[in-house]
Amino acid sequence: MESVWVENTEIRKREPLPGDMKVPVAVIGAGLTGILTAYYLKQAGIRAVVLESDRIGSGQTKNTTAKITSQHQLVYDRMIRMFGRGMAGHYAAANEAAIGEYERLILEKGIDCDFVRCPACLYSRTGTEQLEREARAAESLGIKASFGTECELPFPVAGVTRFEGQARFHPLKFLAKMAEEVEVYEQTRVLRAEDKRVETDRGCVTAEHIVFAAHFPFVNVPGYYFARMYQERSYVVALKGAETPEGMYLGIDRDGLSFRSCGNLLLLGGGHHRTGRKKENGEGRYEALSGKAGEIYPGCHEVFRWSAQDCMTLDGLPYIGRFSGKKPEWYVATGFGKWGMTTAMAGARILTALIGGQDCPEADIFSPRRHFTAQAAKELAVHGACTMKGLAKHLLPSGKEKIIPNCPHMGCRLEWNPDEESYDCPCHGSRFDMEGHLIDGPAQTDCRRRDL
Ligand code: FES
Repeated sequence: MESVWVENTEIRKREPLPGDMKVPVAVIGAGLTGILTAYYLKQAGIRAVVLESDRIGSGQTKNTTAKITSQHQLVYDRMIRMFGRGMAGHYAAANEAAIGEYERLILEKGIDCDFVRCPACLYSRTGTEQLEREARAAESLGIKASFGTECELPFPVAGVTRFEGQARFHPLKFLAKMAEEVEVYEQTRVLRAEDKRVETDRGCVTAEHIVFAAHFPFVNVPGYYFARMYQERSYVVALKGAETPEGMYLGIDRDGLSFRSCGNLLLLGGGHHRTGRKKENGEGRYEALSGKAGEIYPGCHEVFRWSAQDCMTLDGLPYIGRFSGKKPEWYVATGFGKWGMTTAMAGARILTALIGGQDCPEADIFSPRRHFTAQAAKELAVHGACTMKGLAKHLLPSGKEKIIPNCPHMGCRLEWNPDEESYDCPCHGSRFDMEGHLIDGPAQTDCRRRDL
């Protein structure tokens, strides 16, 4: 089940790494973050090579809904309370600048990628208090935001928080063009990283700086990202025959949905859940979303369906910056939540500044070593409990199931995902196909099925 973006995009193939090499920067992962980081480093006069285990854009970039927004759910009101107005202002500024930077690059390079400026809106069908607070908080940080009750969606809402000047585009068309300016080696799987060495199955890259930009870092220690991140899945259907709104919408209620147009199609998203969590009822997740589509837009029909996998952090903000105090030459960009477009751009610019030794006032709020909040402590307890459950489960007999694999990352019992015919790990979100081949990390290897 491929996304609408994959359908009509060709990205030029690249050769694998030809053998050992020495470079200033090695970037692991050729998604939007990796490619943009290498691009900005090159602009700064620093050579970077990008190492990709599969193809350019073959990871999460192809599964996004491609909303380029500084609106990241309800974030600003909470962030001001957690980190103060100054830090929240840097987050807002970095994301607003990211929207402008996409537009600048697209115009400068003449990239034909369906870029359109449009508003981004949060809606609720049940209450307005949170929306009003968020609009006030965002506005106080310099974002053009307002609260109202006007909405293009075909059902009644209690209220809408609207951010002006946001954007949408075709992520793979953009990526294909940007990748032309970058040195990328495909089909080159990174096996290990140690100090200044990146070992791959095609040779070893020695680099002054190493950037981990492949979704979920595969190195467990140092950094301990597995202990402070989990992954979520969510689902998208592309509909023909549904009204296409000018703005992009996201519901903040428990069953809230995501709406954005793409030409004459409507992309409807929803149904998020922790990766590896079993369904509470028997209904398929795609079927549930299609059912909602039919209720909202009678007569529409589905032409694409796909799913996304997102890294979620303890305090809801990304981890971008130095990987760990113990590895000053390593950098990371991960934990983007569901906001990969602006965060990839902000991340690429922050990492370029850090590697180039430039001042970057935005870096502190994104830093993986920012201060630990009360919310993060609460999430840590929940995440820890889920992980312990997954780890303990592999020791137990599995009832009637005949063959159940364990996750090669840290040994949790995988769960069968009938919607996508995959084995998913409830601990940190690795996924495997029916044959046990790796789909998503942090695991690095295929899993072995075992008879119980
Ligand atoms: Fe960590 Fe499976 S992803 S144990």
